[in-house]
Amino acid sequence: MPSKKVLITRLIPNIAKTMLTNAGLEVMEWQGDGPMTQPELIERAKQVNALLSLGADKLDKHFFNQCSHLDIIGQFAVGYDNIDVEAATSAGIPVSNTPDVLSEATADVAFGLMIAVSRKMFFNHKTIIRGEWKQFEPLKNLGFQLSGKTLGIFGMGRIGMMLAKRCQGAFDMKVIYHNRSHNTEAERLYGATYVSFDELIRESDVLSIHCFLSDETRGLFNREVFSKMKPSSIFINTSRGGVHNETDLIEALNQGLIWGAGLDVTNPEPMKPYNPLLEMPNVAVLPHIGSATVEARNGMARIAARNIISFYQHGEVPNCINRQVLKGRKS
Ligand code: DGY
Repeated sequence: MPSKKVLITRLIPNIAKTMLTNAGLEVMEWQGDGPMTQPELIERAKQVNALLSLGADKLDKHFFNQCSHLDIIGQFAVGYDNIDVEAATSAGIPVSNTPDVLSEATADVAFGLMIAVSRKMFFNHKTIIRGEWKQFEPLKNLGFQLSGKTLGIFGMGRIGMMLAKRCQGAFDMKVIYHNRSHNTEAERLYGATYVSFDELIRESDVLSIHCFLSDETRGLFNREVFSKMKPSSIFINTSRGGVHNETDLIEALNQGLIWGAGLDVTNPEPMKPYNPLLEMPNVAVLPHIGSATVEARNGMARIAARNIISFYQHGEVPNCINRQVLKGRKS
């Protein structure tokens, strides 16, 4: 039987290729500097059996109409808002992701942004570059302490829990959260309290977003929400830029509806260099580096490859999102 072919859509840690090859799969890698255009992706996907995809690949209805022959999609990310899972399911294609391995790394970035914003670190760094550091300034660029403040988490999954752990351990912060369901582990381990969405946005000194981008969450953090937050609060988003309305965020900061913002994800991405957020003293922006550690990226490569291999070897996909397609299906 000819071996199955897997297309890896960007260069990722080599461990994925090694694992797939060792499992007897033939690997093709897109070597380009950026993602393929959708027509390029479709053309190449037509020549393979499985795809190891990244968040920038547009796997929509059109893609699945053209590539319904695929056996499996192994996404190299925890988020999969680039994939029309319903269309994949209709085509009978299992879709998998890489949860957990990047939780620590992403929580570190949320934690770092929170501190950076509270002390205007990115802005103060730029004053040195601009030659503006002349003397000690008793009244300028004051931030505020995080100790004892309230951390609000929207989406208490693994990443939210890792952030709660850090904030509680480092700053003794009170943790409140809103989620689709209660997270009893977070309640037990970090004393987190479940609150309504309205209470979350009203009570948080730091509001950190850790949800998936979906029809329910798209643009959820808008003017109306910002206007209900404390004027002294910080908004942190390390999930997906689409969850906040960036024009409303800029306005909320300009009008003092909220105090500051830390973003690892922007709307749209990439952010343009002339975006007003980049010049605001109480704002810190990073170019979507949440999972950018050696440990997390190796873990993501390993899990994405394992999902594909396990499908071919056992007909099982450990991190399957649309598990229903696996029932009764033979690999
Ligand atoms: C994810 O895994 O969804 C991240 O955003 C990619 O680093």
